[in-house]
Amino acid sequence: MIKILQTDITTLDVDAIVNAANSSLLGGGGVDGAIHRAAGPALLDACRPLGGCRTGDAKITPGFNLPANYVIHTVGPVWHGGEQGEAALLESAYRRSFEVALENNVSSIAFPAISAGVYGYPKQLAAEIALRVMRQYESQFREIIVACFSAADAQIYASML
Ligand code: APR
Repeated sequence: MIKILQTDITTLDVDAIVNAANSSLLGGGGVDGAIHRAAGPALLDACRPLGGCRTGDAKITPGFNLPANYVIHTVGPVWHGGEQGEAALLESAYRRSFEVALENNVSSIAFPAISAGVYGYPKQLAAEIALRVMRQYESQFREIIVACFSAADAQIYASML
């Protein structure tokens, strides 16, 4: 089942929340900063030995002080106008996050709107890609949540579901 919620992803009691990280995996602003603040400093300690993460890939750590058991860190593309393979990289970020989740027996997972903030990906285009991949994995998870920070973002997803 796919659910659209307007919520702070760090509050969700699910098996895994997905972090829209950068390739260093050493924290940042946006949802990355919120997740690190809520998880505590142990999250950064767990990320350091991972050696970063390529755009479109995903890596898993424990959730530490978060209600979620795991954080799946993925790196979405920076939007450069759409002619530099951004769509394929964003699709890969969702797909690799699902694959890593399946490898770790995750059955409930929450995603932020990857790349749709600081990375500038047009929200509508990003939501289309997110929902298309989510529908492909829907049968393999008990619950897939899109955690939108704003009501406007939640409306974009809800209107497409
Ligand atoms: N819960 C859910 N969604 C959130 C939260 C939160 N607590 N905080 C922000 N968001 C939303 C934003 O409103 C946006 O819709 O997450 C979406 C993704 O925005 P960003 O966090 O800016 O992520 P992204 O666009 O992928 O940029 C990644 O930003 O924080 C840095 O280190 C990160 O360099 C990386 C870059």
